[in-house]
Amino acid sequence: MMLKIGLTAILVVTSLSTNAARGKDVSPSIRNIVGACSIPAVLDARTNVWEDHILYPTSDYRNEVEQAVKAIDDAQLREKAAKVANVGTFMWIKTVDDIANLATEASAVPCDNILGLVLDILPYKESKTRSLELDNRTLAQYQTPFIDSIAEIIRSSINTSFAVIVEPRAFPGYFNDTSAGDDLPKSYRENVPYALKALNLPNVVTYIDVGNSNSMDWDLQRDVAAKEILNTFEAAGSPSQFRGFATNVANYNAWDLLPGEFVPADDSRYTRPQNEQQFVRILSDALQKNGLPSRATHGIMDTSRNGVPGLRWTWDDWCNVNGAGFGPRPTSQTRDESLDAFVWVAHPGESDGSSDPSAPGYDAACGKEDAFRPSPAAGQWHQAYFEMLVQNADPTL
Ligand SMILES: *[C@@H]1O[C@H](CO)[C@@H](O)[C@H](O)[C@H]1NC(C)=O
Ligand SMILES: *[C@@H]1O[C@H](CO)[C@@H](O)[C@H](O)[C@H]1NC(C)=O
Ligand SMILES: *[C@@H]1O[C@H](CO)[C@@H](O)[C@H](O)[C@H]1NC(C)=O
Repeated sequence: MMLKIGLTAILVVTSLSTNAARGKDVSPSIRNIVGACSIPAVLDARTNVWEDHILYPTSDYRNEVEQAVKAIDDAQLREKAAKVANVGTFMWIKTVDDIANLATEASAVPCDNILGLVLDILPYKESKTRSLELDNRTLAQYQTPFIDSIAEIIRSSINTSFAVIVEPRAFPGYFNDTSAGDDLPKSYRENVPYALKALNLPNVVTYIDVGNSNSMDWDLQRDVAAKEILNTFEAAGSPSQFRGFATNVANYNAWDLLPGEFVPADDSRYTRPQNEQQFVRILSDALQKNGLPSRATHGIMDTSRNGVPGLRWTWDDWCNVNGAGFGPRPTSQTRDESLDAFVWVAHPGESDGSSDPSAPGYDAACGKEDAFRPSPAAGQWHQAYFEMLVQNADPTL
């Protein structure tokens, strides 16, 4: 292992200096291609694969950060911000167009990196915000254009390791949002097992998104939820590469803060675990008790924006929380058996939603007192917010 890493490093340095000597522009993409893995990737999902793989810095986020850095005047802040370009984030598949970049992205990933992929395309996921494109698709149309195409690319990218998060917001949505009607449960129960089965490949580990500690009444529902996850797992043919669940995706919850952010105040209808660590332990335990094999009961947690706790007025405030900072960088050093890794799933610096009440699709959470205002539309680059995240990062950049 040491020898392999050493050789890779030497190869990179040699090629870089050769390119530099020839006076070529050494762009990040050239560095990546030089470092790309050339041995088949095989992940053992009985182990924590994050112990010898670090999350790959995806090019779309890296490009956003590189642009953002150029727009910063303060030299000290600029130097800190520049470091963010090298932090790994997940690649999001939200439309068919996003699949087009997957093969290229995968071809640049070094052996000791893992390419994170979020499937965010499940039909009927969000009754309130679902797009017309998704709305009118039948269940079968998820499977062929999305899942089969993605599986095909992953199968051909044999030298690349992947970690896939399946459908943020979907799981708690169908438990606890009755406005979704029967469509979401039907869509989930047909499509998620299909995805887990199709992506059960040697170079992949899969996690299903379960929302976060605040998504449902875990006291009342932990066994119902665990059984549903077990059913999903079995309907997928008990896939060997299934590792567990993803939590806190694009959210702001603290990992192990005690007392929790909202204790003793009870801001909610539900009894909730005080922090993500308690939640992860509760869920992992419930999964084991309900019959999931223990290797399939581990979590990964999004820590991209949870550096500063205690900012929100209520636990439900999810939009561009004001005062936020980057949280722990991706690592397997979680000091908790139940959690494989802290990862950055969201692309911090992209807005959660517009703060302008007259904007299309305006969500009131984005105009609250504890939200950063003004903020642009969801997904748009939010320079002031990004600079705030850099400034308030904990650990510091
Ligand atoms: C994987 O690496 C081998 C070299 O060992 C190379 O021949 C092959 O083209 C690579 N495959 C892909 C898809 O990159
Ligand atoms: C989706 O279906 C609705 C009614 O079923 C229709 O009014 C609408 O135009 C369709 N949208 C698209 C993008 O096809
Ligand atoms: C959410 O789950 C709780 C506990 O099972 C239940 O009491 C509540 O009615 C659910 N809410 C919705 C909107 O379904």
